[in-house]
Amino acid sequence: MKAVRTIQELRHELAERRTRRSENGLAGVGFVPTMGYLHAGHASLLKKAREECGTVVLSIFVNPLQFGPNEDFDRYPRDEEKDLRLAEECGVDFVFLPSAQEMYPRPIRTTVAVSGLTERLCGASRPGHFDGVATVVSKLLNVVQPDRAYFGMKDAQQVAVVQQMTSDLNMPTEIVPCPTLRDADGLALSSRNVYLSDEERRQALSLPGTLRQAETWLAENADPSALRDRIMEGIQRSPLADIDYVEVLTYPSLLTPEEAMRQELPGDDRLLVACAVRYGKTRLIDNVLLPWNNEKKGAEVHA
Ligand code: PAF
Repeated sequence: MKAVRTIQELRHELAERRTRRSENGLAGVGFVPTMGYLHAGHASLLKKAREECGTVVLSIFVNPLQFGPNEDFDRYPRDEEKDLRLAEECGVDFVFLPSAQEMYPRPIRTTVAVSGLTERLCGASRPGHFDGVATVVSKLLNVVQPDRAYFGMKDAQQVAVVQQMTSDLNMPTEIVPCPTLRDADGLALSSRNVYLSDEERRQALSLPGTLRQAETWLAENADPSALRDRIMEGIQRSPLADIDYVEVLTYPSLLTPEEAMRQELPGDDRLLVACAVRYGKTRLIDNVLLPWNNEKKGAEVHA
């Protein structure tokens, strides 16, 4: 494994690797973009990339562009040594660790904005966040030029935004969505979990605990707004829970079921139940995807 800090060096290394097959006969470049402080969720993305690609590239860059002025950019957890150890264990070939100066050598005047998918959920609570994500992901995809890039579904909105962007801009990278990994108690793995006190973490378990029941509740009563109310009630049973949003939207278009019915989007065959909740100063997101039959549910939505 090699740690690389400049775009020029990474491009040079990859130029030579791109056409080469690995020992197990695999070809192609697999890429896992991260902000570091790696956990088992990141490891699962890296292992999948390792299984499917000849060369695996991991990037670690805490992207200032996607943090709002009052967010946690400065205190975002960082541990390069530990990250490099985990990357090595996962069989990564190249770790790209650019500085902010390397990624943004002068004030940026070109940004990527994906409309429609970014106005709701985290886009509403974190204005500008997805412009920052889309811009840095475009830059990283341009630098690495991977065949496949792996993203975790805990950030389901991010996956929808990146898929829309690569499709709209004819970027040749295939975006591979990967399942959310959870601790044994059910909490979705996130670098930000480290901020939680013991009591906050205990109470935060109401989030995955409530989401686990969503499928049963939807089967009992197919009305998505009733489902949303039940999810809110479930989460609010923990006194520390301060709900930012609970939304039930079609996936990947992120429309309300009513809007989706009007537009008859054939690809939207799932419902995303997505939540953002603060426990103390820590904002956690989590979601569950449920099957959604547009035609059948239509009558129920309008009933
Ligand atoms: O999901 C993340 O860690 C970040 O949003 C990403 C994709 C690495 C872009 O900075």
